[in-house]
Amino acid sequence: MTHAVAGNRINPDFSRLILGIWRIADWKMTPVEVASLLEQALELGINTFDLADIYGDYQCEAMFGEALRAQTALKSRIRLISKCGIALQSAARPQHRVKHYNTTRQHIVASVEHSLRQIGAERLDLLLIHRPDPLMDADEIAEAFGQLRRCGLVGNFGVSNFLPHQFDLLQSRLDYPLVANQVEVSLLHSEAMFDGTLDQCQRLGTMPQAWSPLGGGRLAKESHYSRLGQVLARLGRELRASPEQLAIAWLLRHPAQIHPVLGTGKIERLRLLVEAQQLQLDRQYWYEMLEAARGREVP
Ligand SMILES: NC(=O)c1ccc[n+]([C@@H]2O[C@H](COP(=O)([O-])OP(=O)(O)OC[C@H]3O[C@@H](n4cnc5c(N)ncnc54)[C@H](OP(=O)(O)O)[C@@H]3O)[C@@H](O)[C@H]2O)c1
Repeated sequence: MTHAVAGNRINPDFSRLILGIWRIADWKMTPVEVASLLEQALELGINTFDLADIYGDYQCEAMFGEALRAQTALKSRIRLISKCGIALQSAARPQHRVKHYNTTRQHIVASVEHSLRQIGAERLDLLLIHRPDPLMDADEIAEAFGQLRRCGLVGNFGVSNFLPHQFDLLQSRLDYPLVANQVEVSLLHSEAMFDGTLDQCQRLGTMPQAWSPLGGGRLAKESHYSRLGQVLARLGRELRASPEQLAIAWLLRHPAQIHPVLGTGKIERLRLLVEAQQLQLDRQYWYEMLEAARGREVP
């Protein structure tokens, strides 16, 4: 693959920072308040919002949809990501006897149709298979994707939590690229930098999306007694940045072009994380943070 092609798959329609909607129920906001948060996120340059069928025990997509109905002009300005493939044991799904994965054609198509009804949208900009399913039949997923594409219900496809060989298997059945792999990446969880996941994204020009980029909030509260906490506090003084801004800048510095999926519901925190895009971490700052996070220097 030439350099000209690599990178082109990182679709400029999606903002570099993404807002995750998983915790929307914890935000304790009215639909009008959520709509106002989305509006302010858009003003900050965040146009992409991450959902999944199962979030909030199958309730989050409907809550997000209520916000869009409260402020109808938002719908045309946003990019929607949703996921399917996990089947929870839930009062909302009494037919599920056990938590399992379902990547059958029927489940994928039905899940997307349901997500669109809940959100009140005509199309998902990106659909991700939420987790690799040991029973995944790549041909069958390709059929489901084909059907959703032909009907115009989904614009782009990707995966989440896939290792490179699982990504390759599904990609081998498609004649268009998977555009994203959403994986856990943060200072507290850097495996994707070493297990080939981000190398593959860089090689193919796939958009890596980092879920829980602040370790679910733990990085913002890293103790000043921990090695990482001390390094973040010291670098924060030198670079005039907060620990969470440093943690986001650390992800953005990676050459695979990581797209952090932020989880805060507080606009003032979102604003600070957006500002982290201006921070320039040199190579040695980056490695200082890696060393502090892993508790050892590189070999
Ligand atoms: N694909 C997958 O398997 C998968 C798995 C998990 C999550 N996700 C996606 O990733 C998104 C983000 O995950 P996450 O919520 O764990 O992300 P995160 O950004 O690591 O954590 C967000 C949490 O940290 C808290 N927090 C505390 N102090 C903060 C500060 N100073 N700045 C920002 N946040 C602070 C937030 O609370 P406040 O709201 O009070 O700020 C919120 O509860 C989810 O919404 C979901 O869309 C995907």
